[in-house]
Amino acid sequence: MNNISVALDGPSGAGKSTLAKKTAGHFNFIYVDTGALYRCIGLFALRNKVASTDRAGVIKLLPQIKLDMEYDDAGIQRMYLGGEDVTDAIRMPEISTYASDVSAMPEVREFLLKMQRDMAEKYDVIMDGRDIGTVVLPNAGLKIFITADADARANRRYLELTAKGIATTFEEVRAAMLQRDKNDSERETAPLKAADDAIMLDTTKLSFDESFNEICKLISGRFDI
Ligand code: DC
Repeated sequence: MNNISVALDGPSGAGKSTLAKKTAGHFNFIYVDTGALYRCIGLFALRNKVASTDRAGVIKLLPQIKLDMEYDDAGIQRMYLGGEDVTDAIRMPEISTYASDVSAMPEVREFLLKMQRDMAEKYDVIMDGRDIGTVVLPNAGLKIFITADADARANRRYLELTAKGIATTFEEVRAAMLQRDKNDSERETAPLKAADDAIMLDTTKLSFDESFNEICKLISGRFDI
């Protein structure tokens, strides 16, 4: 692999996506948000009235799913499901649980694997997810595992949702987030886990800018850029 690949894994709310977005802009990488792919499968299941835990039902849907990932002029990843732009629809809180449930199915992970690897073949990427360093890009040039304590993560997610006008409470967000982390960490296939060679970055006590600077330092120190 000649391109630069940075794998950014960690639990939800650790700040992966905002950090990855800014880092991509700074180094001129493509930011690949792999959670969006699982969210699209979750949305498709929901729309087709298939329960997110109904493995046989979800597997049956897969051949009907046409997924496209594109980048707009601002470098923002847009997701298309059967040609429809679902970039905003997949951010609804109920889709988080759907995405987490379908992501535990090996068939779903296999279905999405090539799309993720293709991106790293074509571009310099910073890719965020749960299994990027362990499964998707085991040869990534740099692997970072971002964590933060549960309250800090829940608070960030809560502020994000309320800023979007979504009515919820801190407790609700925290409980849903912990449940999702448990699902994501305890599943058999590609669980949320730091790769052995990942660098751990705990952002609990770091501001956004401090976290961003840490990541920039790691990238500049690893690659000749
Ligand atoms: O990053 P996110 O919260 O948008 O991801 C939604 C769900 O998708 C998450 O609960 C776990 C799953 N996921 C995954 O299993 N593997 C990835 N590489 C990315 C996301």
